Amino acid sequence: MNARAALAALAMTLGLGLAAPAHAQHGQDPKPAVQTTNPSARNPTADSVTEDALLRQLQGGSHIGGRISIPDYKASILEQPQGRDYRQFREGYLPWIGGIAVLGMILALAAFFFTKGRIRLEHSEESGRKILRFNAFERFTHWLTAMCFIVLAISGLNYIFGKRLLLPLIGADAFSAWAQYAKFAHNYLSWPFMIGLVVMILVWIRDNIPDRTDINWIKQGGGLVGKGGHPPARRFNAGQKMVYWSVALGGLALAASGLVMLFPFSAADINGMQLAQYVHATVGVLLIAVMIAHIYIGSLGMEGAYDAMGSGEVDLAWAKTHHSLWVEEQQAKTASGPQIGRGGKSPAPAE
Ligand code: HEM
Repeated sequence: MNARAALAALAMTLGLGLAAPAHAQHGQDPKPAVQTTNPSARNPTADSVTEDALLRQLQGGSHIGGRISIPDYKASILEQPQGRDYRQFREGYLPWIGGIAVLGMILALAAFFFTKGRIRLEHSEESGRKILRFNAFERFTHWLTAMCFIVLAISGLNYIFGKRLLLPLIGADAFSAWAQYAKFAHNYLSWPFMIGLVVMILVWIRDNIPDRTDINWIKQGGGLVGKGGHPPARRFNAGQKMVYWSVALGGLALAASGLVMLFPFSAADINGMQLAQYVHATVGVLLIAVMIAHIYIGSLGMEGAYDAMGSGEVDLAWAKTHHSLWVEEQQAKTASGPQIGRGGKSPAPAE
């Protein structure tokens, strides 16, 4: 029996129609359909029509479905060729995209660190005077989002690489227990992450609107290329604005596609579910690579930077070096009266 005949026989045996009704393809409940399932009741002409139509559907990328009498349209789908494309992406391309993005970023940062070292204060002198950079509410929001992101990143990478890298090392029992906990963590920590993300977007959006100072900052490569020193910047420089917008847009894309997956088949049919997974996995690995760079610069990479999110206060000399326009704005505010820190009541002394 050739493939065409096998396909037709399979369809006949299952009593399948040619395709799921249009309303079923759009995810609505189909009307119960009564169907003749007796193959002997069909004639050869009808058989070859069935066979051709099935092949056309497979080649045309639509799914092969039947008519069902239960209100679950998924049960009517016998073959969905896009599933093969998705599997190819999931098992073939995705590990490469993820591996290159994450390992590539780690290697690039390591190369930078070992050739240029830490970014230091220009005059290597701390002033001993402090300026408040982030108040308690901002720091709480940052760390809530950051901690959740790190757990989501590790458990997310486990979906892609766990089976390949960890399973052979720790064995099936340990891997299945770990993967189970990782999955729970991924599902449940997505909620505080989404809350933190939305608050973070709202709290910092005003200071992240691109402006003219960013063009100059980018032209000078953030002060890393050439000998011009650190270009002037407001509260966030162009590099930080890129991090902010990557987190904001990438995070929202992750949240939207993640919600589709948290409630399977509620908002999307099988094609929509696959689309959500393409988006979630690709944006996820790219954002992890961006955040590795951010974590590096916020800790090891730049002298004095961590304090901003640690205690909230940075040395005035550091602030003048990296955010000179912001310091001027803060000092002008302090000079013109008592200052109220953004997002809370804490004063933000400029000096
Ligand atoms: C252990 C990990 C992390 C460290 C050490 C860290 C450190 C920092 C520091 C020091 C700043 C302030 C920089 C400044 O003074 O302007 C900052 C800002 C910020 N962080 Fe993090 N961070 C971490 C993880 C994350 C994660 C996972 C996210 C997002 C999911 C995130 C999102 C942001 C954003 C949007 C800003 C403001 C824009 C910017 O400064 O780039 N951080 N972080």
